[in-house]
Amino acid sequence: MTPLDRTRHPPALTPGYFSSVTRAPREGLIALDPGEAGMTGPVFGSQAIGPLDDDLIRNAALPGEQAIGPRILVHGRVLDESGRGVPGALLEIWQANAGGRYRHARDGYPAPLDPNFSGFGRVLTGEDGGYRFDTVMPGAYPFPNGPNAWRPAHIHFSVFGLAFAQRLVTQMYFEGDPMIARCPIVATLPTVQAVEALTARYDPARDRPMDARAYRFDIVLRGRLATPMEP
Ligand SMILES: [Fe+2]
Repeated sequence: MTPLDRTRHPPALTPGYFSSVTRAPREGLIALDPGEAGMTGPVFGSQAIGPLDDDLIRNAALPGEQAIGPRILVHGRVLDESGRGVPGALLEIWQANAGGRYRHARDGYPAPLDPNFSGFGRVLTGEDGGYRFDTVMPGAYPFPNGPNAWRPAHIHFSVFGLAFAQRLVTQMYFEGDPMIARCPIVATLPTVQAVEALTARYDPARDRPMDARAYRFDIVLRGRLATPMEP
């Protein structure tokens, strides 16, 4: 395994993001041996993925119904440090609904839940490292970080390689969103380039006509262009 280059990723302690103060380790980090189980399992096969797992518009909807919100598709590639596609990587994605509300007991934001939307999906990358999923544009939501803090529209990504020890977690934003520059969590990213790397580009060439707008988001696992990951 290649260790993370921590200068490319947000530091654990960033007091402008209040929660990081209590979450960040106060002592030096200890390298844990992931053990044989963590290095070798689980192995994900295509059988583990259901036919609607990559369709958040329908995968939690009642028969004949769909999630409410602006329809989008998100596509891209998972790449290694030399730009080669990484096949067979499991992407798990989760997001708020179009109103900015999560289906979670601790989410107290008064925007309504959508009975046809769970906010969860997953997809395996293909032979070229490519992936695609359908969803609705998530809404912005407020969070307790001073008097007026909002999260920009975003989708959370977990990327699994072939083992638990190869899990990476990050968030994707949307090109043109004025809330990105105001978010205290985005502000933990060390450089403008890091913010750019987490911002999906509108990709009209991949729009599904009269159906969905397309956004492109590539994930680079390692190296000089590595996608920033959460500490
Ligand atoms: Fe979120």
